[in-house]
Amino acid sequence: MKLLITGGAGFIGSNFILNRIEKGDQVVNLDKLTYSGNLNNLVSVQNRENYSFVRGDIGDKSLVRKIFSECRPDAVVNFAAETHVDRSVIDPESFVRTNVLGTSNLLLETLEYWKSLSQEEKAKFRFHHISTDEVYGSLGFEDPAFTENTAYAPNSPYSASKASSDHFVRAFHETYGLPTLISNCSNNYGPRQFPEKLIPLMVLNAIEGKPLPIYGNGKNIRDWLHVFDHCDAISLILEKSKPGECYNVGGNSEKNNLEVVAAIINVLDQEVPRPDGKSYSEQIHFVKDRPGHDLRYAINADKIKKDLGWTPKFNFDQGIRETVLWYLANEDWVKNVKDGSYQDWIKKNYEER
Ligand code: NAD
Ligand code: DAU
Repeated sequence: MKLLITGGAGFIGSNFILNRIEKGDQVVNLDKLTYSGNLNNLVSVQNRENYSFVRGDIGDKSLVRKIFSECRPDAVVNFAAETHVDRSVIDPESFVRTNVLGTSNLLLETLEYWKSLSQEEKAKFRFHHISTDEVYGSLGFEDPAFTENTAYAPNSPYSASKASSDHFVRAFHETYGLPTLISNCSNNYGPRQFPEKLIPLMVLNAIEGKPLPIYGNGKNIRDWLHVFDHCDAISLILEKSKPGECYNVGGNSEKNNLEVVAAIINVLDQEVPRPDGKSYSEQIHFVKDRPGHDLRYAINADKIKKDLGWTPKFNFDQGIRETVLWYLANEDWVKNVKDGSYQDWIKKNYEER
């Protein structure tokens, strides 16, 4: 396929590109390179004939139009977004700009391009929007998991902006017939995740002897899915499903934050024991909670299993071990992402907690 991938220098997008380049797809990666966009994620494919990179904003009308006319993709996969809930608390407007206005611009330009295609090309074309389980809001401990029919009830500026973009995608299908797809996935983990998110942050803080900041009481629950499993699900949805479909994607692996941190510590205690012989759990530090902190997310992924035969391949214990080892083995990658702006964020988010 010829793919226009947005946000492909980030965590999930780069893992997806690495996978699709190996499959022989032609990929154009449009990425603004915000703080979380990192071309080091893609060094292994940067000189491949079937890969090209354009630095730019999905909200830039003339640039997006030019890319469509030059690249003439068979599909768009939209990963580009502001993605960190804590940042959305401090700066909601940048989430509106990229996630809402940027996505709506991308949809409009996609629509213009799609209208120019032949009937056969039109029928094959897809706009796949990568979304999140956070649009459904928060569950109680005993509530059933989110299905595709759960009503949207976003609680953070991040999830509100993602919910809004999902609605625009849906509206472009209903109103103009654009062949759209939406997938709503749970928390991803794996290689190349920017270390503002729970798992890489905890790994790196631990080995640097810094506190491991647990928000609130650490009992909030997330469903964890390895990023490679998410990428496989995206490929299946893109290639096999009908226009207008929405799919929940989840790891069937609910853990509270203390359990996740304990799993990381378990690997670190074995692989890189502290010089003083104590466990890294000594570094756990409870801090002020995230405002509006969702208690629990859980995904019912029966639909993608039934329609497309997808199930996750990784179990959490195996996946978290490999993930921790990846961050330990990739010191140069880590050094590069932890530049000045990363330090500024850590100061801003944690200093007064
Ligand atoms: P990330 O923050 O690692 O990457 C986002 C990428 O988008 C970066 O490369 C950034 O430079 C780029 N970008 C941001 N604004 C842009 C703009 N205006 N124009 C072009 N590029 C822009 O995020 P991620 O974790 O890889 O998430 C990717 C997508 O998956 C997002 O849409 C997110 O909402 C969704 N998602 C993430 C998770 C998760 O656990 N990480 C789970 C479910 C869904
Ligand atoms: O559910 C999917 C979502 O998962 C994605 O849409 C988001 O883009 C992604 O960032 C992620 O959101 P979360 O808010 O769940 O992820 P985060 O890694 O920020 O936090 C996971 C949990 O850990 C959450 O309950 C907050 C807690 N936490 C997080 C950090 C950064 C801490 O206790 N301490 C921390 O320092």
